[in-house]
Amino acid sequence: MKKRCFISVLAGVFLLAPLVAMATDNGPEIIDLKEKFKVEGKRKAVNFPHRKHQDKLECSSCHQDPKGGGKLKFELVNLTGNKNDFHKKFCWPCHVEMKVPRGKSCSNCHK
Ligand code: HEC
Ligand code: HEC
Ligand code: HEC
Repeated sequence: MKKRCFISVLAGVFLLAPLVAMATDNGPEIIDLKEKFKVEGKRKAVNFPHRKHQDKLECSSCHQDPKGGGKLKFELVNLTGNKNDFHKKFCWPCHVEMKVPRGKSCSNCHK
């Protein structure tokens, strides 16, 4: 009885895993944040390397939902000038904390 139970759980896991994998939406590989957030200004648009971040970080580093997608953890209100919330709340604090090479260099993001 116990053994059969174990086998059916195992079978369930193997049958479900591909379905779960298919259902997981990792979102775009690269995201044009200027376009996405309708940011106005003369700086070159930031093409955010979403996938590269996913390879290094948990989804929950940026998304409210631990599985990713949906709302971000950061409230982005001020979208203009050098003191915009992308710099101040979102991108820069983590780059500084994780010592990302050239993490605050303008041309690393605006290119
Ligand atoms: C870690 C990434 C990152 C770095 C480094 C960075 N920025 Fe930004 N910046 C952004 C994002 C994201 C936005 C908002 C989206 C967009 O404009 O494409 C933005 C927006 C801006 C804006 C407002 C929009 C506009 O076009 O006027 C200015 C001004 C700006 N950045 C200047 C700078 C300057 C100057 C530097 C270097 C000191 C710099 N940024 C470095 C990510 C970065
Ligand atoms: C370093 C930050 C960061 C990490 C880590 C991250 N994301 Fe994102 N993600 C973003 C940003 C920024 C956007 C674009 C803004 C938006 O869609 O609200 C986005 C958008 C998305 C979207 C598209 C949402 C939409 O409405 O179009 C999906 C899906 C998504 N992410 C899934 C994931 C998953 C799954 C993970 C973990 C494997 C993950 N993300 C990790 C920053 C991140
Ligand atoms: C929670 C931490 C975290 C946040 C938030 C974050 N980054 Fe990063 N970012 C990293 C790490 C870690 C790396 C180094 C990745 C690597 O070495 O492959 C990185 C690298 C980068 C790079 C260089 C990628 C390359 O090709 O070498 C760019 C560009 C970048 N981030 C843009 C952004 C922008 C724009 C934002 C905000 C919208 C952002 N990041 C927010 C952690 C973060």
